[in-house]
Amino acid sequence: PWLLEDEIPQECKNLLSTLPKEKGWCEPHLYQYQGFWRPAWLFSNALACQKHYQAQNTDILLVTAPKSGTTWLKSLAFTILNRKLYPPTHNHHPLLTKNPHELVPFLELNIDFENNKPPPMPNNNVDRRLYSTHFSYVSLPNSAKSSACKLIYICRDPKDAFISLWHFSNKRRTPEMGTISLEEAFELFCRGVSLGGPFWDHVVGYWQESLKAPDKILFLKYEEMIEQPNIHIKRIADFMGCPFSAEELEASSGNIVDEIAHLCSFNNLTSLEVNKNGISSAGGLRFDIFFRRGITQDWKNYLTPDMVDRIDRLTAEKFQGSELKL
Ligand code: A3P
Repeated sequence: PWLLEDEIPQECKNLLSTLPKEKGWCEPHLYQYQGFWRPAWLFSNALACQKHYQAQNTDILLVTAPKSGTTWLKSLAFTILNRKLYPPTHNHHPLLTKNPHELVPFLELNIDFENNKPPPMPNNNVDRRLYSTHFSYVSLPNSAKSSACKLIYICRDPKDAFISLWHFSNKRRTPEMGTISLEEAFELFCRGVSLGGPFWDHVVGYWQESLKAPDKILFLKYEEMIEQPNIHIKRIADFMGCPFSAEELEASSGNIVDEIAHLCSFNNLTSLEVNKNGISSAGGLRFDIFFRRGITQDWKNYLTPDMVDRIDRLTAEKFQGSELKL
């Protein structure tokens, strides 16, 4: 359910009226709550989720700042977890006909309002729930922190995340709205005013927690995954508690890790009809907007040297003392 600003429940409107507000990239406004910015339509769902989601010890949450590789991580985690029922070369593998966002629902988008329940698990053969979220660490529902559920975080070079978000936002804008310029979006992004932003605070929040509890939070980088997908597929499987067996890795029929990497690759996913022309039932978004180039350093084609300098300095400042490098 993507609520329009005037369809928002009154109690939520009351809250919104007390919050700092800025211009949105594709919605009229973004509101700052618990230090992070989100559009009005996301509030009622997010608040319901914070209140009602009860994490189970076996849950796995895929956590990202928008445009950091959520779609890819969803496809990988789903495939790894469900590989007994759906081997990656299965003719009817769910990823062949469903977009990864349909297989791994967003907690704060898909919560069942009426019954205050998280979304049911589609096509999941294992007794474990796999969700995703853009919540910052501070906003994460308490039970997700206190239970033994596991979190997998993926982050990305802020310059690429920015370019990706700028394209994504322009695709979401209506023709009447026109486009948001690169310069305007850049200014907002650097000030932290972006969907789920400040981007850096989101990343640092999870980075620090992952250092304290590496068994609870696996911290991944998009660039490293592009470089060496197979190593990361194995790390994800180990972390989720379903490591590849020696038999799986030695199977004469093919290397399952290669097969998973191929199934979930940008080229393969973008060749599928569902990802070319499919539309999400919740929200009516075209699935193709989650795929653009799927490469690193595309920012070089867009940012001026001054912009690069500014954003790199900002990153250095924000990550200072954390030993985190992107
Ligand atoms: P670009 O816009 O730079 O191409 P998210 O899934 O968090 O919304 O992030 C979207 C970004 O991930 C987009 O980046 C998109 O192209 C890229 N992406 C989507 N699927 C991918 C895949 N299977 N492998 C690598 N990158 C992928």
